Amino acid sequence: IRSEALDKIVQVEDIKVLQEIRVTYLGKKGSLTSVLKGMGKLSKEERPVIGEIANKVRDAITTALNEKIQKLEEAALEKQLNQETIDVTLPGRPVNVGGAHLLTSIVEEIEDLFIGMGYEVREGPEVETDYYNFEALNLPQNHPARDMQDTFYITNELLLRTHTSPVQARTMLEYKGEKPFKMICPGKVYRRDTDDATHSHQFRQIEGLYVDENVRMSDLKGTLDKFAKKMFGEDRNIRLRPSFFPFTEPSVEMDISCKVCHGEGCNVCKGTGWIEILGGGMVHPKVLEMAGYDPKVYSGFAFGMGTERIAMLKYGVSDIRAFYTNDVRFLKQFHQA
Ligand code: PHE
Repeated sequence: IRSEALDKIVQVEDIKVLQEIRVTYLGKKGSLTSVLKGMGKLSKEERPVIGEIANKVRDAITTALNEKIQKLEEAALEKQLNQETIDVTLPGRPVNVGGAHLLTSIVEEIEDLFIGMGYEVREGPEVETDYYNFEALNLPQNHPARDMQDTFYITNELLLRTHTSPVQARTMLEYKGEKPFKMICPGKVYRRDTDDATHSHQFRQIEGLYVDENVRMSDLKGTLDKFAKKMFGEDRNIRLRPSFFPFTEPSVEMDISCKVCHGEGCNVCKGTGWIEILGGGMVHPKVLEMAGYDPKVYSGFAFGMGTERIAMLKYGVSDIRAFYTNDVRFLKQFHQA
């Protein structure tokens, strides 16, 4: 068996055939295997002698097979390497890597800015209760100011939040009326609006809230001035105009100075040289009280800005829909290398 097998192995040049040889001799029904199976019929004296011989034969065949297969595989690889040539001077194929969406970058930039002023970043649910979206913000049922925000209701009590302001109440409750804090909250909000160049039924806001003893309007103004200059350039100015929100008293709207432009595609800074970018004010005592903060001890300021607006103003984007139609040619312009 041994010499027959080894002879064959020397002659064969095909890995498949070698595998077949392995089966023929060493497989379950192989000839060597049947010798080993027949051992039981041998006498006590014969058994160890024949056993040793059979094992040696098996080892010899196995080794020969493995060596031959390895040799053949190496030869095949060698041949393949000789045939294939790689031109290392060819330029590589460009790999398409993604990048952050402009709105994501803007949010991160604003987060960094406020983190630098000691704010923590918070989040809140987009599916919100009527209570947090309105009631806790001094907007009881049937209050006319609810009409300022056309709401997507899910049930009587559940809705898609119309602003990030509910996170004001949620945060104050979490701090249990005991601690001063500063937070901002970026997030998506929803309103029943017809989409056009400046309206979207879904958009983003960034809320800010600072609650402490002796927080004043001048703190709000200073904070927003810093924000505007850091975000848009030191040459920018802000102005506060009186406004109304049920959850702040007094309430303001903030404009930022901008360079007036004319002509088609210019709806970013028209007319007066000022553009409105956010609403804010001093937190209404009732709002503080409902959330467990004693308005005789604590006061606070709050603001809420439209993220898209900030991005549009900063980069001269004239159509809010560009953020959501996601044409990569648009998006790519804002990818950082
Ligand atoms: N929530 C208001 C809006 O959506 C903005 C705002 C936030 C106003 C905080 C005052 C204080 O228009």
